[in-house]
Amino acid sequence: MKRYHVHTFGCQMNAHDSERIKGLLEDLGLGEAAAEEDADLIVFNTCTIREKPDQRLAAHLAQAKAVKAREPEKIIAVGGCFAEAQRERLFELYPFVDVAFGPGSISHLGDWLGAGGEGVARGRFGTGEERAFAADLPETRGRRFQAWVQVSMGCNSVCSYCIVPRVRGREVSRRPGEIVAEVVRLAGEGVQEVTLLGQNVNSWGRDLAPGIRTEFGELLRAVDSVDGIERIRFTSPHPKDFRDPVISAMAECVAVCEHTHLPLQSGSTRVLKRMRRTYDRERFVRLAEKLRGAIPDLALTTDLIVGFPGETERDFRQTVEAVKEVGFDGAFTFVYSPRAGTEAAAMPDQIPEDVKRERIERLVDVVQRVAHARNQERVGKLEEVLVEGPSRTDESVLRGRTRRNTTVNFRGTAAPGELVDVLVESATSMTLRGTEAAFVAAA
Ligand code: 5AD
Ligand code: SF4
Repeated sequence: MKRYHVHTFGCQMNAHDSERIKGLLEDLGLGEAAAEEDADLIVFNTCTIREKPDQRLAAHLAQAKAVKAREPEKIIAVGGCFAEAQRERLFELYPFVDVAFGPGSISHLGDWLGAGGEGVARGRFGTGEERAFAADLPETRGRRFQAWVQVSMGCNSVCSYCIVPRVRGREVSRRPGEIVAEVVRLAGEGVQEVTLLGQNVNSWGRDLAPGIRTEFGELLRAVDSVDGIERIRFTSPHPKDFRDPVISAMAECVAVCEHTHLPLQSGSTRVLKRMRRTYDRERFVRLAEKLRGAIPDLALTTDLIVGFPGETERDFRQTVEAVKEVGFDGAFTFVYSPRAGTEAAAMPDQIPEDVKRERIERLVDVVQRVAHARNQERVGKLEEVLVEGPSRTDESVLRGRTRRNTTVNFRGTAAPGELVDVLVESATSMTLRGTEAAFVAAA
């Protein structure tokens, strides 16, 4: 049996797409190799959101080149966002690559392999008309009780720093019937937690045919009514499209978790304008207050960029202040990275690297302090935890996540996939520690 190994870079959408790549390969009769050395086919599912993933990929591809020189029969495939962004140059840059495909044309890998690499175009990308939902391919899930569910592909926003619209194309919503049918099938297979995925989930449904045009709140309600689904998550919503029907669905649907990831990007209205985010600082803060007012105990996490072109010390301080004002439960912080072909990359007032570095260190410090204080408020409380398995650092301890999406390491005897109550005993900025309630009672 031939064997494959998939390397995944980037976001949850790529994690989802990789499960489809694996499903497709297994349908073709290939088996998974735990290590790259043992694989006949090596797939890189790539990301190009910042320069760092590009550099990591370059290092992996340099290794792949050496492997290919020693063992020319090995097949090297490059898919995902980097492949799409570099479609014109990919085979020039990396002539040893056998097959390439964009995020919208994963099935090309199957066609190419099915035809033994003969008579099929080397690359086929897919931001054009021929894009297809990865969700329509078979999947091989990482965990039996959790699943990604794709609700849309592409993005219609024009954020001036972001490469995603160029590599994933315009937004297309999946039909509600197909999404719900998939969730029903997943529930039947034992899935308890679904994460609905789209580049901007809150604009889902608006592009559908008039007869079935709908909005994301309705989808949350439909998924909530599926028996066996205990937890519903979604990512990412764009603050500009977070309307009341979604907030009320979140408040009323039992399975929808008390967490939302709401990318702020900058606390300065002036910078937000140049980013083309179409909301200002005040509107974001009001939205956060409204969400917290409607959903008790809501956890709010965010993405922040420092060093966007033209960002002054004053703009930066407004981001720091916004973190404190909103009280984020967590934040991913990024140094602005110019991406070829985006509007911001051509802006004249780029910020020097040392200034960016200094600002991100200050920001991380504040984010950690605020998140720690938020997590500290959970100490002494019981939290429902979905058990994922043993802790990564200590095998004798279990790990899982709360409904608020915080990782918990705890003492207990529960099995992966079980929902248990955990008494929280201590907190850091990123994790909680505790003991399974049944364990406490028994002791
Ligand atoms: N530079 C730095 N961070 C970026 N992001 C997107 N594009 C860039 C860029 N060019 C960040 C945003 C986004 C997250 C996924 O990555 O914060 O929300
Ligand atoms: Fe995900 Fe964006 Fe990276 Fe593509 S470029 S994998 S959409 S984060």
